[in-house]
Amino acid sequence: MRTKFKAWAQPFLDEHLEIQCSVEDLNSYPRYYLEIGSGKGQFLCAMALKYPTKLFVGIERNVTCAGITAKKIVENQLENAKLMFVDAEKVLPLIKDNSVETLFLNFSDPWPKKRHGKKRLTSEKFLKEYYRILKEKGRLIFKTDNEQLFNFSLEMIENSPFELILADPNYDGLDSFDEMSEYERNFRQQNLPIYRIILEKL
Ligand SMILES: C[S@@+](CC[C@H](N)C(=O)[O-])C[C@H]1O[C@@H](n2cnc3c(N)ncnc32)[C@H](O)[C@@H]1O
Repeated sequence: MRTKFKAWAQPFLDEHLEIQCSVEDLNSYPRYYLEIGSGKGQFLCAMALKYPTKLFVGIERNVTCAGITAKKIVENQLENAKLMFVDAEKVLPLIKDNSVETLFLNFSDPWPKKRHGKKRLTSEKFLKEYYRILKEKGRLIFKTDNEQLFNFSLEMIENSPFELILADPNYDGLDSFDEMSEYERNFRQQNLPIYRIILEKL
């Protein structure tokens, strides 16, 4: 699903710096939940609405998606949702150790070609960074519609220090903690299976 470029997105982001956060801000938060590749912000905003005392931060590198998320945050006056319009690859190394409560990856780009394997957000180098930035007992929750990405991720996890809590090839969507992202809603409407993995830092 390609997102059509919206010319208003960058000016909107420039006008609403109050809903964005820097790495310094991030590293000053005592407790926060992080979504990488937050798309148009459906999941981020739904979680922030559901848990008003928890802080949710989305990282998104596509300007239109970031602009749409910013608009949702502003319109819903969500004080506990923040956005970083940046490539996760650049920002992850700057995040301090043991700082993230829970990390969410929702329907990450599958990068199906073998030569693009390192770009997948569950490849070895990303898992290493996630492990480092998560708090002790912190969780990584990953959902996808893509069986190849699910299997690839399980292979990567085997060689990581994470404890595998759950690998569900047909997630029913009934975890009361959870919310649906835009992609999840689309795939569920088509009755496609949703795969889910939960990992914990030891
Ligand atoms: C397939 S979409 C899924 C969007 C959303 N999570 C959902 O489930 O509806 C993947 C999103 O991740 C973003 N993304 C991919 N790699 C990224 C990276 N390295 N840093 C930040 N965002 C990234 C893309 O721009 C895109 O918006």
